[in-house]
Amino acid sequence: MTFTVKSVGLKGIDGYFVTVEADCLKGIPSFDIVGMAGQAVKEATRRVRSAYSNAVGDFQKGRITVNLAPADTEKEASALDLPIFIAVCGAFGLLENVLQDTVFIGELSLSGELREVGGVLAYTAFAAENGIKRIVLPKCCAKEASLIPGIEVIGITDVKELISYLKGEITVLPQESSLDNAYENEGLPDFAEVRGHYFAKRALEIAAAGGHNIALIGPPGSGKSMLAKRLPSIMPPLDREEVVEVTKIWSVAGRTQGKLIQAPPFRSPHHTVSPVGLSGGGSIPRPGEISLAHHGVLFLDEWPEFSKTSLEILRQPIEDKQITISRAAQSSTFPADFILVTAANPCKCGNFGSERKCSCSPRERKMYMSHISGPLLDRMDLMIEVPPVPLSDLENKMAEEPSSSILKRVLSARERQKERLAPYGIKLNSQMTHDMITRLCVLTDSAKALVTKAFDFYGLTARSYDRLLRTAQTVADLEGKDEIDELIIAEVISYRTAEKKYFFRG
Ligand SMILES: Nc1ncnc2c1ncn2[C@@H]1O[C@H](COP(=O)(O)OP(=O)(O)OP(=O)(O)O)[C@@H](O)[C@H]1O
Ligand SMILES: [Mg+2]
Repeated sequence: MTFTVKSVGLKGIDGYFVTVEADCLKGIPSFDIVGMAGQAVKEATRRVRSAYSNAVGDFQKGRITVNLAPADTEKEASALDLPIFIAVCGAFGLLENVLQDTVFIGELSLSGELREVGGVLAYTAFAAENGIKRIVLPKCCAKEASLIPGIEVIGITDVKELISYLKGEITVLPQESSLDNAYENEGLPDFAEVRGHYFAKRALEIAAAGGHNIALIGPPGSGKSMLAKRLPSIMPPLDREEVVEVTKIWSVAGRTQGKLIQAPPFRSPHHTVSPVGLSGGGSIPRPGEISLAHHGVLFLDEWPEFSKTSLEILRQPIEDKQITISRAAQSSTFPADFILVTAANPCKCGNFGSERKCSCSPRERKMYMSHISGPLLDRMDLMIEVPPVPLSDLENKMAEEPSSSILKRVLSARERQKERLAPYGIKLNSQMTHDMITRLCVLTDSAKALVTKAFDFYGLTARSYDRLLRTAQTVADLEGKDEIDELIIAEVISYRTAEKKYFFRG
């Protein structure tokens, strides 16, 4: 007889229903899976056969065919082990019917234990959004799945428990919702540990408040990496929606280890990272570093050392806040909305612009920075110098401002932005289009005059004009000002001076 079980597959972080049908006919025993099954799914035959033999009994009952629908989508996940197992049990007559409005996902061990699968949150979210009442999955994944409201999550340990549960012999209590709302930005590296560097700290505060990209340039050991690593500590904790979105991505990448991602992620890929490692990829696409950094920080340390291809990959996602990866088997879109922080030495020897002697020729300096293209530089809102910290600052015993107190200012600036930008469907000043800037940014007369002067003096382009005003608006929000005055414009212009000095352009 034919037995049908419902499950879910994933394209990127988006789900689709998979119907698993099994049929057992008389004849020489065999076990086939049809319906665009990838390698991982084909291997399910062995795991299902062993799990059945070890936990239930004789598997040699006839010719079993399992069909996976839709047949035009390649399926590549061991998560289908469990529904295949149940469909086979049904085809053997071990089960009379399967629970209604229920989906099953999970990998099997040879002895019949249910094992963790990646993408649990994405599977569960899709099921809940599409009217499914219950998801049955490995017990170790239940906590993660219970983050999604409106769906009953049943965690099962092994196939024996599963069969008893499906036969109605035992009850398994649904997992309780697990979001820990008490999360604060605790335990992250703190700005109180950074002595001095008030200019850089202020720029990072602006970056966190308005979601602006920032480049830090300075000699070795000046504290660039130290500063960048502390940015997440002044970013607002992720809200429930963001926790779900970020954990979904991490879950598909198989990196959650059953935990929720509640802090803004900080990703710092090494400069030897491959373009695929950065953007995501694979025959069934998996998220890369830029998607793992979603709602957090992507930190490119030693910026000029990254390959040109890797850097150019960033251009499109920085604009679109997402990346689409097209492969023969599947095309997937992953979110990639992050604050880009880059750190660079000013030249190969690292000393240009500092008191130490630079041994590089102007041509060598130009070559060193030439990897970083103009369009990418255009996407950096703030570009600041981080000089070596003076001894007087290092020896100063005065306590530095802790991240928690900077975070308070960031939160109130975010609140002001939210109120103003909500009608436009965005949250941050960095997302304002030229139109919104013209409509929403109010400048005093003297601020306007200063912008005009700066336009001529620095040879600003239309693009850099927008960037200047977006950042200025964030400074106004941090200060609680309704208008952008000339002091704000002067401050914001100071965050661009490093560009002319180090990148040989206006
Ligand atoms: N302002 C500072 N306050 C306290 N410690 C500092 C400061 N700046 C640098 N340090 C110390 O110097 C070390 C090196 O700093 P960091 O690694 O951030 O430098 P960097 O600018 O990233 O250098 P590189 O260009 O070589 O990567 C830090 O681990 C820290 O111990
Ligand atoms: Mg460094």
